[in-house]
Amino acid sequence: MAYDLLKGKKGIIFGALDENSIAWKTAESVHAEGGTFVLSNAPIAMRMGQIKDLAAKTGSQIVPADATSEDDLNALIAKSMEILGGKLDFVLHSIGMSVNVRKGRHYTDEKYDFTAKGWDVSALSFHKVMQSLYKADAMNEWGSIVALTYMAAQRVFPDYNDMADNKAYLESVARSFGYFFGKEKKVRVNTISQSPTPTTAGQGVKGFDGFISYAEKMSPLGNATAQDCADYTVSLFSDLTRKVTMQNLFHDGGFSSTGVSQEVIDYFSK
Ligand SMILES: NC(=O)c1ccc[n+]([C@@H]2O[C@H](COP(=O)([O-])OP(=O)(O)OC[C@H]3O[C@@H](n4cnc5c(N)ncnc54)[C@H](O)[C@@H]3O)[C@@H](O)[C@H]2O)c1
Repeated sequence: MAYDLLKGKKGIIFGALDENSIAWKTAESVHAEGGTFVLSNAPIAMRMGQIKDLAAKTGSQIVPADATSEDDLNALIAKSMEILGGKLDFVLHSIGMSVNVRKGRHYTDEKYDFTAKGWDVSALSFHKVMQSLYKADAMNEWGSIVALTYMAAQRVFPDYNDMADNKAYLESVARSFGYFFGKEKKVRVNTISQSPTPTTAGQGVKGFDGFISYAEKMSPLGNATAQDCADYTVSLFSDLTRKVTMQNLFHDGGFSSTGVSQEVIDYFSK
């Protein structure tokens, strides 16, 4: 269902790799709500992903950028304003990658150049995106910036590895930059802490199937899907949430507030 919530709004969506990506679903929903945007992803993802199909479907242009490169980000932001004909109203940072996870290195056996690369891609890139936007004065007043995170930033999920530390940093950057963006430019900055979701990045986490089934049983409303996340993000980009900023917003069907569910009790009472 569409309500024209984003009619006339312009932005950048990072991180749509394939149709399972949270950013892919978000792009479709933003389009349905009347928003226009530039799609961006790492140059390598252009070859791996199906982003061209999404661009055609949503009438968008693609501007590649490695989110760790300040030069790429500055060029992307300038180009996006040119394509869209003015300043931006929304930005989605939907980017994550851990080299330690990819290479199967345990948390107690990290290779630190892997750790540094994963941190740069998954966490510092959010600061870089916002610093580029801030310096270029690229956001309209009452604009909205959202990044995606996971509850491993607050609680231990052993196989989430160094991504837990990256997410804690990402959430902190949202608060810190949110202060300055709010004060100086009336722009809000939030993170959405999403349920486990079957995407390329999600399924890279060891034991993902057990993990997602457990979360499903623990959440009174069940896990939030990628489409649910897209809907929530639309609300945060809309004018209906103008005073929500510097928050880490749990979007997880109630998982984060549940100690134990009846299903889990029943399982262990057998
Ligand atoms: N899937 C889950 O279970 C889950 C849960 C909570 C939060 N998240 C977060 O949601 C976000 C999106 O992930 P997803 O699950 O949709 O998976 P995904 O694999 O579809 O998306 C991750 C994206 O990051 C991009 N990326 C990697 N390195 C990059 C770089 N250097 N520059 C620019 N882009 C780069 C990839 O190309 C890809 O498009 C991530 O931040 C992830 O941590 C995912």
